[in-house]
Amino acid sequence: MESAKRFSRLGVTASVTTEALLFAGALVRHPGMVGAIAPASRWLSRAMTRAVQACGCSHVIEVGAGTGSITRTILASGMHLERYCAVERDPVLVDWLRARHPGIEVLCDCASCVLELIDTQRATAIVSSLPFRSLPAEQASRCASVFSQAVCASPGTVLIQYSYGLGDSPPFATSEATLRWTLFERVVLNLPPASIWLLQNTSP
Ligand SMILES: C[S@@+](CC[C@H](N)C(=O)[O-])C[C@H]1O[C@@H](n2cnc3c(N)ncnc32)[C@H](O)[C@@H]1O
Repeated sequence: MESAKRFSRLGVTASVTTEALLFAGALVRHPGMVGAIAPASRWLSRAMTRAVQACGCSHVIEVGAGTGSITRTILASGMHLERYCAVERDPVLVDWLRARHPGIEVLCDCASCVLELIDTQRATAIVSSLPFRSLPAEQASRCASVFSQAVCASPGTVLIQYSYGLGDSPPFATSEATLRWTLFERVVLNLPPASIWLLQNTSP
């Protein structure tokens, strides 16, 4: 029993080390698109999972899934999900996500494809790790516009987006008049500290 526990602990440590190396590789390849020095911490991953639970959506589309720290925590939470789709642009990370999570859809694509993925009959949680403050300007503005349209596409759909820093400004400005940002949680135990924001449609 003790040795089984030790093996399981070793497995977790090996996986965390592999994730850190994969993350560092992605950071070297395209620093602006990664925008951080480490994968989401377990505290940030748990807080993002609480946000998904609070929204009560049975469909999740995760964009910028990276090394999958948030993916893993949401899938392990035991909440009932009918669909989990992860979208990541870096093919090396996509291969890792597919190997780690064979039971979910993993797409190698830009997050701006989210509008085509949404089922307009279902409330969807769009879980985003995109680093809006460091993304190339054209990509940031395209993704912000598509995310805003996606939140309006079906009732109950919500964007759960974290951004680095503990300030009061939301991740991006939206021109849709009925959309509102609310601060869900601040997470100090992350590198760097982060704030989780929800973008929701206030129109009935
Ligand atoms: C902050 S990092 C990953 C965070 C992730 N939660 C983790 O712990 O590994 C942001 C990720 O978004 C991906 N990304 C950036 N721009 C993207 C885009 N337009 N479409 C899809 N993925 C994108 C990057 O490749 C990177 O893996």
